[in-house]
Amino acid sequence: MSKPCDVSDYQRLAQKRVPRMFFDYADSGSWTESTYRRNETDFQRLLLRQRVAVDMTRRSTATSMAGDKVSMPVALAPTGLTGMQHADGEILAAQAAEQFGVPFTLSTMSICSIEDVAAHTQKPFWFQLYVMRDRDFIGRLIDRAKAAGCSALMVTLDLQILGQRHKDIRNGLSAPPKMTLNSLLQLATRPHWCLKMLGTRRRGFGNIIGHVSGVSDLSSLGAWTAEQFDPQLSWDDIDWIRERWGGKLILKGILDPEDARMAARTGADALIVSNHGGRQLDGAPSSIAMLPTILDAVGDDIEVHVDGGIRSGQDVLKAVCLGAKGTYIGRPFLYGLGAAGKAGVDDVLRILHQELDTTMALCGERLLTNLGRHNLLEPTLFDR
Ligand code: FNR
Repeated sequence: MSKPCDVSDYQRLAQKRVPRMFFDYADSGSWTESTYRRNETDFQRLLLRQRVAVDMTRRSTATSMAGDKVSMPVALAPTGLTGMQHADGEILAAQAAEQFGVPFTLSTMSICSIEDVAAHTQKPFWFQLYVMRDRDFIGRLIDRAKAAGCSALMVTLDLQILGQRHKDIRNGLSAPPKMTLNSLLQLATRPHWCLKMLGTRRRGFGNIIGHVSGVSDLSSLGAWTAEQFDPQLSWDDIDWIRERWGGKLILKGILDPEDARMAARTGADALIVSNHGGRQLDGAPSSIAMLPTILDAVGDDIEVHVDGGIRSGQDVLKAVCLGAKGTYIGRPFLYGLGAAGKAGVDDVLRILHQELDTTMALCGERLLTNLGRHNLLEPTLFDR
């Protein structure tokens, strides 16, 4: 393939380089994948207003997200098993984000541990927390994130129970991985990936293995995780998490205006309008379609971010025009990582930035902070 020029080029490259079960894990949604697809296609419904003969020099995409300065309003979303797209994946992605001046969020379900990522980066990153039944473990995770200098804690609220993902079931993706003839064949056809993986010690869930009594390997981890996501999670839990953490708090996985109002009442610094990239409630609306209603519901009470389906700098711009203060990418950076390691994530960020900058200019804007509904032809498309 010639030099990749957009995110879909990296998607195709990653498919060639990453064993199928791990590529599919990233590239899929739950059940019929209707929400997963809608996240992307709804962006195409928003039309941009072209302007000409206005001064487009000295442009800047810089802004801030949850109080952190960013070179563009695009953070790397937390993604579990990132270290299976590429050996040491979380470290490489964090380094790429750091160099580009955007936040990296480490997932609870990462392969590299909080301490591993902290040891290989210079600037603070963000940590994402799943609320598990074992509250002692959660408390210790929060303390570890604090000790590692993480500058924000992101609590994910939309995974009290796991949405069913058919591709993972069909591929037999599990912890520990089942070594069937099929999975061995998948690995055998990706020797480059296997060699890199053999060259690293980081192959288990570093935040969990060795930090929970009785969980010392992948096999005991599987049993522990299966019963750990907490179906009893409530807003009261956010209070004690907030108290224990004591720093910047971001609530992720809000798709309903009622929930958004509850999130704002917790005093959190930001909320993320998100349906987990279409991996949880299939049949739910896209995040971008819910953004205006949620902004109406919370007003200025809390900063609002959005993720799901962002595949270009144009999508970032559309989200900002509708009022999002920041956006996140999950799959786009995973494709870059799977295709080419850190260089792939670097390039995905560069591509998004270039697309954002050029689109801003063609819309007649010089500063990202000046973007608004006036840049869209039908800004009321998703209003209720
Ligand atoms: C996720 N997501 C996710 N979210 C979270 O809070 N904790 C996690 O561990 C994960 N894991 C995860 C794995 C993979 C492979 C994907 C694709 C996604 C959801 C993620 O943070 C984000 O909400 C979506 O990825 C955004 O959608 P796009 O950008 O992938 O379309």
